[in-house]
Amino acid sequence: MPADTKHWTQALESADLDEGAHWPVVVEGRSICLYRAAGAVYATDDVCSHGHANLSDGYLEGYEIECPFHQGRFDIRTGEPTQMPCTEAIATFPVEEHDGFVWIAVR
Ligand code: FES
Repeated sequence: MPADTKHWTQALESADLDEGAHWPVVVEGRSICLYRAAGAVYATDDVCSHGHANLSDGYLEGYEIECPFHQGRFDIRTGEPTQMPCTEAIATFPVEEHDGFVWIAVR
């Protein structure tokens, strides 16, 4: 476990998240989407800020996730919207990889 005050939760085996893949997980009751882009892992809320679509059903291109409902986009590194109709950021979460697992801190 990382030595800090965050509450880290084991979310997924690292081997289950291939390069360019994204995958939904539920951590502490919160729906999260994990992504692997350029070797690194990122985590955002799974629910789009424009509606109630799951971003894990969308399309990942580089560092952008495209929502399956209206094709809005977000930067998975920051949660900031990058394409209309999305105007409100989604939450992002700290992630780490060690011991063969992806760990996430949602609080
Ligand atoms: S619900 Fe995601 S862009 Fe509309």
